[in-house]
Amino acid sequence: MPLDVVTGAFSYTGRYLTKRLLTAGHCVRTLTGRRVEHRELDVPVEIYPYNFDDYEALLESLRGASTFYITYWVRYPHGETTYEKAVENTKMLFRAAKDAGVRRVVYVSIANPSLDSPLPYYRGKAQLEEALMSSGVSCAILRPTVIFGAEDVLINNIAWIVRRFPVFAVPGDGHYALQPIFVEDMAQLMLEAGQREDSFVQDAAGPEVFTFDDLIRTIARVTGRKTVLLHLSADLALGLSRIIGLLVRDVVLTREEVLGLMDNLLISGQPSLGRTLLSDWLAANAGVVGARYHNEIARHFR
Ligand SMILES: NC(=O)c1ccc[n+]([C@@H]2O[C@H](COP(=O)([O-])OP(=O)(O)OC[C@H]3O[C@@H](n4cnc5c(N)ncnc54)[C@H](OP(=O)(O)O)[C@@H]3O)[C@@H](O)[C@H]2O)c1
Repeated sequence: MPLDVVTGAFSYTGRYLTKRLLTAGHCVRTLTGRRVEHRELDVPVEIYPYNFDDYEALLESLRGASTFYITYWVRYPHGETTYEKAVENTKMLFRAAKDAGVRRVVYVSIANPSLDSPLPYYRGKAQLEEALMSSGVSCAILRPTVIFGAEDVLINNIAWIVRRFPVFAVPGDGHYALQPIFVEDMAQLMLEAGQREDSFVQDAAGPEVFTFDDLIRTIARVTGRKTVLLHLSADLALGLSRIIGLLVRDVVLTREEVLGLMDNLLISGQPSLGRTLLSDWLAANAGVVGARYHNEIARHFR
């Protein structure tokens, strides 16, 4: 049975991939930053900490692995966690994969990364793609747009706001678009990418494109809310999201996310690889989407 290493088997995308790998009969080892009490003991995986401060231990955690699936990243800087550190750490994962003799790396990037981007999230991902492609390791780079599913932060927390407030503050004109991919489709693409030998870069987007306004209206419809859309400047909308952030003790939305969204970076120009419609998923999950707030700080920083 091949041994694969997956980052974040207890987190979001890595959890779905792990399920698929285990079902396919692979052994799975995970790298995680979670403290013992936040790990799920019923998931039959070998667990290693990230060990960014101990290269030999990191190498050891990758030895014998066939494919290394890397989802590691930080959604926003917080405390000592910065994008620069996340880039440095990810480069260390690439180097360790090569030094440990891993057959293949599958890296999860983001749609529309760019070395020239003013947004550090997108710039950092482009730097990492370049580093991996020039590393000499056989690799696949998948570029998702927004990944939706039960544990998703963005769509879920939009629904949470829609459920609780009669008005939704939309940054800008709301005509910019998103093309979300379902987390199970994303996991399948990762699995298939791990089985190939050639190095490639591929967008991972779903079959539906929504304008932001349409997304809010769709969520309002399935959750049975009469939400009024209020179009504001990005700064004002962000300011309001910060007030909600104080209530829930989280960063609800980052400036990066708003600017990326308004710049149409969450859509793909390639044929969609995801099959699941967000509209179908929302209808099937109308009772649970947004029922509780998904807190990123609680997930990754406490
Ligand atoms: N979610 C989306 O909508 C979306 C959209 C486009 C691209 N992506 C990309 O897809 C990949 C996976 O995203 P995801 O949402 O599925 O991520 P995730 O599962 O929440 O996290 C992936 C891994 O990164 C670690 N991590 C996350 N935030 C961290 C922090 N602040 N400090 C230290 N470690 C942290 C997690 O640690 P633990 O194991 O300790 O939990 C986990 O191992 C990322 O590279 C992301 O950039 C995601």
